[in-house]
Amino acid sequence: MTVTIVGSQLGDEGKGALVDLWGGDADIVVRYQGGDNAGHTVVEDGEEYKLSLVPSGAVRDKVGVLGNGCVINPRTLFSEIDDLRERGLDPDVRLAKRAHVIMPYHRRLDNIEEEAKADSDLTVGTTGRGIGPTYEDKAGRRGIRVGDLLDPDVLRQRLEYVVPKKKALIEDVYGLEAGEECDVEALVEEYTEIGRRLREDDMAVNCGDFLAERREAGDNVMFEGAQGTLIDIDHGSYPYVTSSNPTAGGAATGTGVGPTVVGQGEVVGIVKAYLSRVGEGPMPTELKDDDREEELADFIREKGGEFGTVTGRPRRIGWLDMPMLRHAARVSGFTGIAVNHLDVLAGLDEVTVGHAYELEGEERLTMPATTERWGECEPVLKEFDTWPEVDWAAVAEEGYDAIPDAAQDYLEYLSDELDVPIYAVGVGPGREQTVHLENPFDN
Ligand code: GDP
Ligand code: IMO
Ligand code: MG
Repeated sequence: MTVTIVGSQLGDEGKGALVDLWGGDADIVVRYQGGDNAGHTVVEDGEEYKLSLVPSGAVRDKVGVLGNGCVINPRTLFSEIDDLRERGLDPDVRLAKRAHVIMPYHRRLDNIEEEAKADSDLTVGTTGRGIGPTYEDKAGRRGIRVGDLLDPDVLRQRLEYVVPKKKALIEDVYGLEAGEECDVEALVEEYTEIGRRLREDDMAVNCGDFLAERREAGDNVMFEGAQGTLIDIDHGSYPYVTSSNPTAGGAATGTGVGPTVVGQGEVVGIVKAYLSRVGEGPMPTELKDDDREEELADFIREKGGEFGTVTGRPRRIGWLDMPMLRHAARVSGFTGIAVNHLDVLAGLDEVTVGHAYELEGEERLTMPATTERWGECEPVLKEFDTWPEVDWAAVAEEGYDAIPDAAQDYLEYLSDELDVPIYAVGVGPGREQTVHLENPFDN
């Protein structure tokens, strides 16, 4: 049995919380794309864990795998593992030998390129973690893979080829000075040592084979998507996207299981009850048009703690966008959804969703394929009755019927429009602050 968790919107939908919740029934939790640009929050007994690379199942002692579709910065990984150990956890993390390694020059180039775009509307607002440049090198067949770290001769050969190109890019194209990140000898030394630690701790695996064996032995596997559908490199708001496929297809290509395996399991879209966005790019339902909207956005931002987990940047806020969710449900083939942050909308004097878009005088229910056209869309808004602030802990304990009626109407509208059942409703950040309807591992 597999369950794939996918972000339906722009990232930070609360995926970590649901991976943690249902992860109790998983044996293995596998990230299939992205890297330390992710920040997944798990709150267990009031203790908060913010995980960038270690799969969220670590909090429940599950085996965590970083699939071949991931880009891995070993420095961040080891520091995260060490921090978790200090907090009393003992994460068992395996890395796909086919996964690509984020090298220091990738991070430098990510920042240089963002800086170079700073005065244009091409700025993406990346997390600065070197994600884009690493995937570029993967596609350009000049990347360094985890498996290469285990073989110092191969590592040296690859670095001797690629590093002078990065140096030339930094110096000749951008007119900057290359530093330590382009010192082949230093890199060989540091990354050979990392390879040694990987070997010593038996962390590098053939991901596809590893998962096949574990599935044959009867293990339940959870695929933990990072980022979200609208920042998917293919299905998102290009170029304001990350460089991988957070959508469900990525779970197959990013781990080495067949698409039929993913498709025979459950694919659960994680939906935030409103929108947040931490980088650049259009957002038709953004709350920013006048003082009242800005105040509302400030209120939601503060109440929902909408500040980037990785970078601390304030997140942009908007109403739920239904064309975006229809797009997400189709691309990933959701079998169910979880709706988070219902509590954050409580007590507002207005709750609205973008039901459709108006583009050139026509109403449409789905998203246009180009970002420029998407930016021209005006939301067709639908207002809902508001719901009051209630004791959400009590609601979580009592179950769905205890959710205020107006909020139930909101949830049912969502479920009807997307034609999928709701499996869980988040009413607070903690593991206990969730209204359970179905556990996808039981289906
Ligand atoms: P992820 O990247 O999708 O895992 O989400 P993040 O962890 O970046 O951001 C979600 C934030 O909202 C975290 O601080 C969570 O603890 C918190 N959170 C998750 N679900 C809920 C919810 O239902 N209500 C509230 N108020 N906070 C939530
Ligand atoms: P989780 O997994 C929200 C955004 C960045 C930027 C764009 C590209 O926590 O939901 P990148 O560094 O990936 O090249 O940046 O993508 N971004 C995220 N936004 N949540 C994330 O991850 C994100 N990971 C990347 O802000 O706009
Ligand atoms: Mg996040």
